[in-house]
Amino acid sequence: QTSQPDPAKLAAARAAVALVQDGMKLGLGTGSTAAIMVQVLAERVKAEGLSLRMAATSKATAQQAEGLGLKIESLDELGWLDLTIDGADEVDPDLHLIKGGGGAHLREKVVAAASDRMVVIADPGKVVDQLGAFALPVEVLQFGFESSRKLIRRALHGLGLGDHDVLQRLRGSDPWITDEGNFILDLPLGAIDDPVRLARALSSIPGVVEHGLFLGMCDLAIIGKGDGSVVELN
Ligand code: A5P
Repeated sequence: QTSQPDPAKLAAARAAVALVQDGMKLGLGTGSTAAIMVQVLAERVKAEGLSLRMAATSKATAQQAEGLGLKIESLDELGWLDLTIDGADEVDPDLHLIKGGGGAHLREKVVAAASDRMVVIADPGKVVDQLGAFALPVEVLQFGFESSRKLIRRALHGLGLGDHDVLQRLRGSDPWITDEGNFILDLPLGAIDDPVRLARALSSIPGVVEHGLFLGMCDLAIIGKGDGSVVELN
């Protein structure tokens, strides 16, 4: 992490790490805000000698955490988590989220679902009245992914959302490959009027592994501000 982290992200990360108690089993999120949280957590563990058990939501986070001296175990070794702290691309007033900008939403969702509590940390730019300005990431199997793309287009049309691009995410000129070996399709929808209906439709498409709508999963959103203060949404 850079020596001068974004002050709003840092404020949110600090407030979330303050919720961690000795003996907890934690899920560590992915992305730039989560990376700041991992750094703050590692400092606290060192300073206070906390005994924690941790699972990561991506290879990148596992690598960062281990580099800071934190031991990462698999989710199955931990069984169930007390708390997961993760970032988000959008947070709406119902605490519904769009995630997956970093391409890790599949493991992020599995980890969050296996946690008693999911706390989201974000800067004010992530707070929206309505989800959808951020293109919705959908992880699909490589096998038959063009068919999945057609089926997604058809589903969007069927929901009355009109004709939308379904863009394959690239890393340079190569397809983006997730930690689970899948592709990502990004859906620039503009606005999502009915996230529950859309989530259901996407989940029913063969080849779709997981979409980036996190509905009813976030228990608390901590929004950091540039002055170091935070606002809690719950
Ligand atoms: C990773 O796949 C995402 O879900 C991230 O949690 C999300 O993109 C937020 O990332 P930043 O904290 O970098 O904005």
